[in-house]
Amino acid sequence: MHRTALVVGASGIGGSSVARELIANGWIAYGLARQPKHDVAGLRPVAADLLDPASLAAALHGVAPTHVFITTWMRRATEAENIAVNAAMVRNLLAALAPRKTVRHVALVTGLKHYLGPFDAYATSGTLPDTPLRESQPRLPVENFYYAQEDEVYAAAERDRFTWSIHRPHTVIGRAVGNAMNLGTTLAVYASICKETGRPFQFPGSAAQWNGLSDVTDARMLARQLVWAADTDAARNEAFNIVNGDLFRWSWLWGRLADWFGVPAVGFTGSVQPLEAIMASDHALWREMAERHGLAEPALDRLASAWHTDLDLGRPLEVMTDMARSRKLGFAAYQATDESFFDLFAQLRAERLIP
Ligand SMILES: NC(=O)c1ccc[n+]([C@@H]2O[C@H](COP(=O)([O-])OP(=O)(O)OC[C@H]3O[C@@H](n4cnc5c(N)ncnc54)[C@H](OP(=O)(O)O)[C@@H]3O)[C@@H](O)[C@H]2O)c1
Repeated sequence: MHRTALVVGASGIGGSSVARELIANGWIAYGLARQPKHDVAGLRPVAADLLDPASLAAALHGVAPTHVFITTWMRRATEAENIAVNAAMVRNLLAALAPRKTVRHVALVTGLKHYLGPFDAYATSGTLPDTPLRESQPRLPVENFYYAQEDEVYAAAERDRFTWSIHRPHTVIGRAVGNAMNLGTTLAVYASICKETGRPFQFPGSAAQWNGLSDVTDARMLARQLVWAADTDAARNEAFNIVNGDLFRWSWLWGRLADWFGVPAVGFTGSVQPLEAIMASDHALWREMAERHGLAEPALDRLASAWHTDLDLGRPLEVMTDMARSRKLGFAAYQATDESFFDLFAQLRAERLIP
């Protein structure tokens, strides 16, 4: 049957991976962003601002997707503002597509903040959620832009008669430049700076994260689950966690990451050591390193998002994720987590994004 995908947020860490997976599976795929990049071969760019209904209508003229993959968000200072902006993006998009009546399925990527709470109250207020996190856990009694985005999808699905799936990754490990949250690239840049300066590769996070069990989501796994759900009748109208499928402790992984770069690892030393402070004065150094090593991106803050890595690794609880729901329906993909990082580091080096 004819299928055309619209990947929304196609230059992001999740969206670009989804676009690649769709094209590898023979889909026709359009990729929407305000400034679409041209680095996914075969992806048809659509330039539009989701907050500007007029630009959206004009840009989507002639695009008739059967499947929509929403992998976008904007960060605002408070959760109330996050809700206003991120719900509007979903609402505007689905309203712009509604008159065409071509959409059969909408997949929305949110994340584990569904269970942990928004950045305003991230895993700190009230009772910490039970782990492993399960899709059946009820919403938290705090406002959350993910809930608002889900509600927009549910309302439009009812109105326009399409099916939906919700996908909740943990920290996404993948390649993106200039995006908001990228732990893998942040650690790659930090380790490269350690290598250059002889500084130790210091774990920045909490005791709970150092010692506890954890998992992450390779962007390729996220992409596989989105495409699987789009193709699987039994996956209609469900929310799914998506992680690599193995468990690890940062106390195990940290030294392996350090070894890849050939830098000395220092583990948890009794207190959180925020990376944002450690890297605050490295901007000029990175420009010099870019010059010296012929790197493609001299702006440190287009590669590293230390604020987000600090939030992730500083959490006061171990966080891991149950994968039973999609596995029971036949989603069998698996990814070793150390190789998620090593593959990303090798790609960043091959693209001259790190030395
Ligand atoms: N990154 C992670 O580690 C992680 C972990 C768990 C959950 N998540 C969740 O996954 C979802 C997707 O996040 P992501 O990290 O994949 O995103 P991302 O890498 O920050 O990319 C965002 C994408 O959306 C586009 N975009 C942003 N504002 C737009 C607008 N107004 N109009 C049109 N396009 C716009 C961006 O391109 P332009 O800037 O060119 O418009 C980009 O393509 C979010 O809900 C996030 O919370 C992410």
